[in-house]
Amino acid sequence: MAILDILHFPDPRLRTKAQPVEKVDDDLRKLIDDMFDTMYDAPGIGLAATQVNVHKRIVVIDISEEHDDPLCLINPEIIARDGEEEMDEGCLSVPGVYEKVVRADHIRIRTLTREGDTIEFDAEGLLAVCIQHELDHLDGKLFIDYLSNLKRQRIRKKLEKESRSKPSQAAATAG
Ligand code: NI
Repeated sequence: MAILDILHFPDPRLRTKAQPVEKVDDDLRKLIDDMFDTMYDAPGIGLAATQVNVHKRIVVIDISEEHDDPLCLINPEIIARDGEEEMDEGCLSVPGVYEKVVRADHIRIRTLTREGDTIEFDAEGLLAVCIQHELDHLDGKLFIDYLSNLKRQRIRKKLEKESRSKPSQAAATAG
């Protein structure tokens, strides 16, 4: 088990576009396990590899309260979307910030499993929103990009101030 460091906005590495996974093997499954450990430890309901500075198209999600419904997506694609849903979103890379974002309410996903099989499935509500949020990370996009410039600048200043006032924590995450 390993807890990985999570990048925080405005770290420019969060803007990296992730590359497709070419081979699903034991090394990749080890990374996926570490990503689940990191997400559960945070705690959060989703984590993209981009957030732990690994620029491959991998996402882990678990929206269950008991942390017993892990979902891993490798090279995921949204192949259909329908409807609209507005939800309060937060992000482990933008700590303490929650804002409303409008996204599709129903989506259909095509993805590889951790065994390397291609599957398709439908998602709606919170799961659909979470998948769309995490897939955005793989393209270097954050949920605060949907807000106004003014609001995003305020969030940036707030987080920069907080990281300056907590030097010990900043040093720990830098290491
Ligand atoms: Ni996020």
